[in-house]
Amino acid sequence: HLSVQERIDRKRNAALIGGGQKRIDAQHKRGKLTARERVELLLDKDSFVEYDMFVEHRCSDFGMEEDHNKFAGDSVVTGQGRINGRLVYVFSQDFTVFGGSLSGAHAQKICKIMDQAVMVGAPVIGLNDSGGARIQEGVESLAGYADIFLRNVLASGVVPQISLIMGPCAGGAVYSPALTDFTFMVKDTSYLFITGPDVVKSVTNEDVTQEELGGAKTHTAVSGVAHRAFENDIDALLNLRNFFNFLPLSNQDPAPVTECHDPSDRLVPGLDTIVPFETTKAYDMLDIIQGIVDEREFFEIMPNYAKNIVVGFARMNGRTVGIVGNQPKVASGCLDINSSVKGARFVRFCDAFNIPILTFVDVPGFLPGTSQEYGGIIRHGAKLLFAFAEATVPKITIITRKAYGGAYDVMSSKHLRGDVNYAWPSAEVAVMGAKGAVQIIFRGKSNQAEQEAEYVEKFANPFPAAVRGFVDDIIVPSTTRKRICRDLEVLASKKQTNPWKKHANIPL
Ligand code: COA
Repeated sequence: HLSVQERIDRKRNAALIGGGQKRIDAQHKRGKLTARERVELLLDKDSFVEYDMFVEHRCSDFGMEEDHNKFAGDSVVTGQGRINGRLVYVFSQDFTVFGGSLSGAHAQKICKIMDQAVMVGAPVIGLNDSGGARIQEGVESLAGYADIFLRNVLASGVVPQISLIMGPCAGGAVYSPALTDFTFMVKDTSYLFITGPDVVKSVTNEDVTQEELGGAKTHTAVSGVAHRAFENDIDALLNLRNFFNFLPLSNQDPAPVTECHDPSDRLVPGLDTIVPFETTKAYDMLDIIQGIVDEREFFEIMPNYAKNIVVGFARMNGRTVGIVGNQPKVASGCLDINSSVKGARFVRFCDAFNIPILTFVDVPGFLPGTSQEYGGIIRHGAKLLFAFAEATVPKITIITRKAYGGAYDVMSSKHLRGDVNYAWPSAEVAVMGAKGAVQIIFRGKSNQAEQEAEYVEKFANPFPAAVRGFVDDIIVPSTTRKRICRDLEVLASKKQTNPWKKHANIPL
């Protein structure tokens, strides 16, 4: 007979090796770390506090009740720990136990940490590596997914939720990551899809590989389902640690402030000449952003999707900020369906979690054409407008060059409660460019060149906006960092609320 202590030790040791050495070796052979190795890498050393190592699945069909089919802790490792000293809850699916598939017990473990995370106000990170619903459990497993989805929805906007896809994630399993704030993927070893290539073939007769259908490249460049992809498990987990440092723990906490060694009054002389003299010539908005933020460190979100808008996190004098910028290098920085949706979701995350928003504007307008109109650009463009308008966090806007038409209004303009709006001397705030404007108002009349010159003189400059107070100042570009740091200091105590409502009805 074993003593109770011996039985406890035995179960604990069993939980530590999951599905056994053979399956651990198979996991490693695929270039993947185990669920526990991932947790170790993600969290500060020795900070992990594990829950539910003794939980087992409760299925008694298909021989599942036999001892060799029971695994201490079942197919997920859960608990809490620290990332750079800050609390986080984490679950890590264990592919070595029934392919990480989701049993009722597995779901219950995840729900337990999610409930506690919301109660104490700390983010949830999910490391996904799972064959989906535990087939032997049937509806019990489906119920488990729904229990998680409900918690994802209720926690949305309360604590940050991040998903890292590190293996398969198919069928119902995809909807938990989709409901979280950020989805990151590991290149070559992870995929997300509703149905796999075999089902696709039988329904639509398309031939497609797993990678083409739902690999990291597809979701970060084509579908926009995932926000970033990393080289391997280690790269992904280290980047996730870095990313975590930008986020507040909950909607009740301010964005974190870290020690800053980059002087807040640093001038950035390169900015005085960065905008080309010819208004149709491109430049890289990333150069402006990197020049202005602390230590040039910019964590870009969705860098390969809808590249005509740039979004991501950085710090100004140690304070986290969310940055949105039109990208003149891609499609002249115009707004279209995908860039509007990308921008809107990012702005709403920042607003939900008290992160000030800096907006860099160089936008020639919305992209014209049937594909955009048929695709619903009106509905989708409205999302970005809605997001900027409802945001009550500090909002600072810098017009570097074009701010044309409706897009001028949308891009965190004064009219949508921008707190501080600056124009660079190169700014042109107008209904449209000179050429188009003259063609319409002087249709068919001669002297086009002369009238264009007149239009440029009148409108293609920052003065019409400045004389009306729609920009607060016209500033020397090299002083932009200094001014933003000072403004953020002042705006740190900003308080603004929207009218009471059950929830808004953003055009979806
Ligand atoms: N339920 C129960 N067990 C599952 C499972 C599931 N959904 N998915 C995988 N497993 C088990 C396998 O039986 C296998 O068990 P074993 O180690 O005892 O042999 C183990 O997990 C590993 O699976 P395997 O198929 O050998 O791994 P793979 O890397 O070749 O393939 C998947 C991985 C996920 C593509 C494949 O397992 C699969 O298609 N699973 C079903 C996916 C699905 O349709 N889920 C329901 C949708 S919600």
